[in-house]
Amino acid sequence: MKVVVDGHELDLPAGTSAIDAVFAAGRDVPYFCAHSYLSPVGACRMCLIESGSPRKNPDGTFVMEGEGDAAKPKIFWFPKPMAACTMQATEGMHIRTAATSEVVAKSQAGMMEFTLLNHPLDCPTCDKGGACELQDRAFEYGYGASRFGFDRRHADKHYPLSDFIILDQERCIHCKRCVRYFEEVPGQEVLDFIERGGHTFIDTEEGGLPVGFQGNIADICPVGALLDNVARFRGRNWEYDHNPTTCTLCPVGCSITVDARNGRLERIVAGENREVNEAWICDAGRFGHGFASEGRLTGPLVRVNGELRETTWDDAIAAMRQGLAYTNPADLGLYLGSDSTLEEGVALEALAGLLGTRSVDHWPRYPVGVNAPAATMTDVATADAVVILGADLGEEAPVLELRVMEMLRGGIIPPEFPHGTAIADLRLVERPARHPERLAVIGPDSRLAGHAGIRVTVERASGGDLLGALLNPRTDEARAVLKLLTDAKQPVVILGADVLNSPSGAFATQISDLAMRTGAKVLAIPAGPNSNGLSHLNLVPRMGGLGYARLSDAPAAFISRLDPGKRARGFTVVHDTHLTDTARLADVVLPAVTNYEKRGTIVNLEGRLLPLRQSALNAGEAADLTRTLAALAEALGVRTKVRGLKSAQALLRERLGVNVENLPESGVIQSLGQRHEAPTGLRHTPNLWTERMVPKPNPSSDPRHLTIDPRWELPMAGQPGGDD
Ligand code: SF4
Ligand code: SF4
Ligand code: FES
Repeated sequence: MKVVVDGHELDLPAGTSAIDAVFAAGRDVPYFCAHSYLSPVGACRMCLIESGSPRKNPDGTFVMEGEGDAAKPKIFWFPKPMAACTMQATEGMHIRTAATSEVVAKSQAGMMEFTLLNHPLDCPTCDKGGACELQDRAFEYGYGASRFGFDRRHADKHYPLSDFIILDQERCIHCKRCVRYFEEVPGQEVLDFIERGGHTFIDTEEGGLPVGFQGNIADICPVGALLDNVARFRGRNWEYDHNPTTCTLCPVGCSITVDARNGRLERIVAGENREVNEAWICDAGRFGHGFASEGRLTGPLVRVNGELRETTWDDAIAAMRQGLAYTNPADLGLYLGSDSTLEEGVALEALAGLLGTRSVDHWPRYPVGVNAPAATMTDVATADAVVILGADLGEEAPVLELRVMEMLRGGIIPPEFPHGTAIADLRLVERPARHPERLAVIGPDSRLAGHAGIRVTVERASGGDLLGALLNPRTDEARAVLKLLTDAKQPVVILGADVLNSPSGAFATQISDLAMRTGAKVLAIPAGPNSNGLSHLNLVPRMGGLGYARLSDAPAAFISRLDPGKRARGFTVVHDTHLTDTARLADVVLPAVTNYEKRGTIVNLEGRLLPLRQSALNAGEAADLTRTLAALAEALGVRTKVRGLKSAQALLRERLGVNVENLPESGVIQSLGQRHEAPTGLRHTPNLWTERMVPKPNPSSDPRHLTIDPRWELPMAGQPGGDD
């Protein structure tokens, strides 16, 4: 399809919206209400363009203008500028933007003036200042001067929609992004416009916003009307050090940007990864970061006369040398958390090999792996049938729940252009029709079960065999699930904690048989954020070794970022970010960095290798596991070949055949070969919001702290435009 934008002709796929045609041509048009993953509705009227198309005669030929060879189809222009986000570009269409059309430039400036009619200009105090689309676009496309000499609309400025989201009702420009987001993405109709005209405001039903995915509205609000209450008044946008990285609180591995200021983690916003989280993250990933800047261990501690005392790394190494002097290195248990990176895992594997210890483990993990074609997040979103077996996605992999919801509304994934994801995909519609018949849930109750056409309730407490309920169906519902899988062309089976925790002996074979029989792809949700990656390293108890469940029987142990609340029989070293219950029991405590401060690689639930990038947080002398293990090796008098990131990456290349240097932010799916599995002796209960993560209230955003000191109050009363 040929489209001409400001005189430049370009070739575009059929169905492209006019706004994407403009951006595909490298031109610009301002917009507030359009959003790549929401239905285009034309609410803000900012994306105005002039457009015209050729017209055909009754005989099918084009109406022409000009003579002879110079004749070309005549363009019939619409009499008024049109919103580009709701208009489809068509063959031969001509578009003029503000760059070439005075009519468009004037209409946009007029529209901007209209939008600003009731929008307070609190840019100097608004948290969105410096990142506000209205501010930027008013500068680029507005008149540049205000003609208003009257007091603007007033409404509630610190209106809490929930504990996490504060609404400034005056600043809302009624773009409807937040309302559409809740309806279309998590499928929760909880926000809407109340009242009419200039009195319109956004509000919730009684009860506020549901916790799960509410934070995303703070990202998409184009102005400072919806703000992250955990980060409010912590800093201005230009003061933050923005670090794009990967969330490692669950196995989804969403793209996030960590905003730090003065060494503190102040805010997390969603990044875009079309393949994984599109543009959304969950509330735990967004708001559960308080631990990264609160109560951190910043230096090593050693036990002296029964008490933990601050010390230096050198002295901590000396204490480990002394404490482990009479321990056979082969008896030292090595245990690491499953959010450790591949680099840290390979460092631990190397040290275990050097020491000859058989007591190695990572936690959480499940005792069995699945050997069936693995589904990606996009496979889930575009499947024609999804069966969820024993999973509570809200706890195990929240954003996967959004991709299932995307499947229910037709699995439309906006196309990608050189300018990025389509800004307005005209196939996305408001209040989309859902297809509950494509979703079956087997297992205990969960939020997603409410959207499923078929439900088979097998309570966790009853110890019911969930896979058995599917493979040997005894009820009409269970038979319907099997039929759904068999009839579908692209089915996906999602396996969660309730089936993966205690599989029968034949589990792996049964799953691969089921996949083969039905053509289904299988997405087994790993127990920990990087359990998938670590399972490819030999980090499970070897014959005769003590697993994590038996840590307290180990003669001595090194425990990294795990808090079982118990210690080994003998000398115990804990490497953690906080003084946990386990750290309090240790002989030596070594400070650890969080995953926000690491460079390294994790593997998400799809098998996608994703990079971690280091944010500028103040963690004192904290070190990652790779460097900490090098210190432990020094104390043990051995020379490990992994002493830092580079050597770990070189070993990973040797060990797994992967090059993890310079991974793209969106990651790559790559097979890592054989998995190492072993019984666990423990049941893993997914629990996303751990005690450490629960955000503390932000005192500076409590409206009671916002009362203005009378000394600083400006004498504005009675002045025209005084609230500006
Ligand atoms: S609160 Fe923000 S996102 Fe919601 S309608 Fe208003 S301006 Fe748009
Ligand atoms: S879904 Fe998982 S990876 Fe994504 S933001 Fe939430 S906790 Fe982080
Ligand atoms: S009308 Fe708002 S972006 Fe087009």
